[in-house]
Amino acid sequence: MKKINIAIDGYSSCGKGTLAKQMAQNLGYIFIDSGAMYRAVTLYLLENNIDVANEIEISKALDHIQLEFHPSKENNRFEIHLNGRNVESLIRELHIANKVSFVAKISTVRTKLVDIQQQIGANKGVVMDGRDIGTVVYPDAELKIFMTASNEVRAQRRFKEMIDAGKNVTIEEVSANLIERDSIDSSRNDSPLTLNDTYHLLDNSHLTPNQQFELAMSWVNELLD
Ligand code: DC
Repeated sequence: MKKINIAIDGYSSCGKGTLAKQMAQNLGYIFIDSGAMYRAVTLYLLENNIDVANEIEISKALDHIQLEFHPSKENNRFEIHLNGRNVESLIRELHIANKVSFVAKISTVRTKLVDIQQQIGANKGVVMDGRDIGTVVYPDAELKIFMTASNEVRAQRRFKEMIDAGKNVTIEEVSANLIERDSIDSSRNDSPLTLNDTYHLLDNSHLTPNQQFELAMSWVNELLD
């Protein structure tokens, strides 16, 4: 059976991960959350008191950062390990979200992570979500989806997710963080989030997860038929 790579890019908290996970499960593919890698690098820098604006120190620190994805025991997904430690939950904290876009602007960080991402996708059968997957990581991905949703819908979704995970945040903090990250991610020099005509645009402000899944799978089926 022919295997393809699927790139899902878009703004923060649009439900990229939810869709990517569903598609990977349905197709028997690997789901990789590339944002988790930028978050794990950010966690390492904060834990080691390295300033997220100090590019020289960050470039040196990269030699001491090992990232791996391991299948989790409870559910059918891959969790990120930083130097052998499972940091899947820690990287979702707001203090990481507040710094990660600054780290993701740095080209040496991007080069290292893109290299790992390309190795993972070399044999196809990967659904990866992020900001530059269809432009830089897998420019030849057979299917590219660009996801968006209104600011209000996105802030509500992320807020609920964080409260459900037991995090102590306000909707205002979550909303401010989303707006700041989108602005940095879209305007940086290296690999900014960019919509071009190779993508299918998916605005899910008014779609249920099921509806968006069906739409995305109709695009997959067109390719695999
Ligand atoms: O998808 P996320 O919110 O977990 O991503 C965290 C940050 O990492 C986000 O602000 C932008 C950055 N990122 C990136 O620059 N490129 C990617 N492929 C994935 C994430």
